[in-house]
Amino acid sequence: MSGNNTILITGAGGFLGSLLARALHTDPQTPDIRLVLVDIVEPKAPAGSRAVTIKADLTDPPQVDALFQTEYGIPDTVYCLHGIMSRGSEDNFDFGVKVNVDSVRTVLDAARKYGEQAGQPMKFIFTSSLAVYGGPLPDIIKPDTLATPQSAYGMGKLVDEIFINEYTRRGFVDGRILRLPTIAVRAGAPTAAASSFISGIIREPLQGLPSTCPIGTSADSPELDLALWVASPETTVANFLHARRIPADKFFPHTRVVCLPGFTTTVREEVAALEAVAGPEAVALISFEDDETNKRVVSSWPARFDNAYALALGFQVDEGGMVPIVRRFQAQLRAEEM
Ligand SMILES: NC(=O)c1ccc[n+]([C@@H]2O[C@H](COP(=O)([O-])OP(=O)(O)OC[C@H]3O[C@@H](n4cnc5c(N)ncnc54)[C@H](O)[C@@H]3O)[C@@H](O)[C@H]2O)c1
Repeated sequence: MSGNNTILITGAGGFLGSLLARALHTDPQTPDIRLVLVDIVEPKAPAGSRAVTIKADLTDPPQVDALFQTEYGIPDTVYCLHGIMSRGSEDNFDFGVKVNVDSVRTVLDAARKYGEQAGQPMKFIFTSSLAVYGGPLPDIIKPDTLATPQSAYGMGKLVDEIFINEYTRRGFVDGRILRLPTIAVRAGAPTAAASSFISGIIREPLQGLPSTCPIGTSADSPELDLALWVASPETTVANFLHARRIPADKFFPHTRVVCLPGFTTTVREEVAALEAVAGPEAVALISFEDDETNKRVVSSWPARFDNAYALALGFQVDEGGMVPIVRRFQAQLRAEEM
């Protein structure tokens, strides 16, 4: 792979950004990697890595420009991960657009400018979301399914995608757009994302903590059959690394959008996986409190995709459903306790 092996990650203080930094640092295929880690909260560099950490507000163009001029020189790749999550951008539309659209455009323009200076289109790897889909949808989403978002978050992601595709078509950047499933189980605290409960109903009970599920009124509610399209963090981050390695000519000629592989589960299956791993006492920690807004947003997301194109590009998929993911998360929690 050509380039100077300097990688800029925006949103590097976040959940996936910090996992990505660690994965790049330990990836045997990139032993000489140098990381530029940026977030509005001071990001942490993985222990022993070659990294600069920068606290910056990406809505401010001069701060964005400076990221491309560190001691490591012009990066060959940007992983653009920063953003305001779904519920956050739904509840605060203008702020959501400022971060999820305007600042992404600013980073994209800087990638274009510095890629031109370096003499090679910069790889621009962008995390989009299944939230670009909404309205009437086919049973299975395919690469040619029209994206008609029904949320501010999904709208913002789609606008970004259109820019990245056009910048790629013009040779301004070498874009790779990854539409992510919902990632579960997410470590850390609950978030403003409408999907937060999808991890919360596993994560909190595994730590003996109460958790609220905004879908259904009890563990027997029919609403728990709500289907969800999910992937584990480990598989997703492995797919982020893979996205950088794919030769440009392997993508469809007309779009750089790829729906990363995921699998279909339901809230009920999640609860069953929790019970299988941690027993009924863990399930008893979930309180079911129907929340119409949250339910409306999550129900508008599709839950079944055709993985064929992504798998043909070499991306990975989780095997075995939720139980191995819950077990892995429990093992991580236990390791952290030691
Ligand atoms: N986690 C999921 O289930 C999921 C699903 C689909 C898509 N995605 C996308 O993946 C990306 C990463 O998701 P995540 O779960 O790690 O989110 P996260 O909220 O943990 O991380 C996002 C980071 O962006 C930073 N940020 C926000 N505004 C900023 C600003 N103005 N300047 C600098 N940094 C700013 C935040 O501080 C945060 O650390 C996002 O683009 C998200 O939309 C995530």
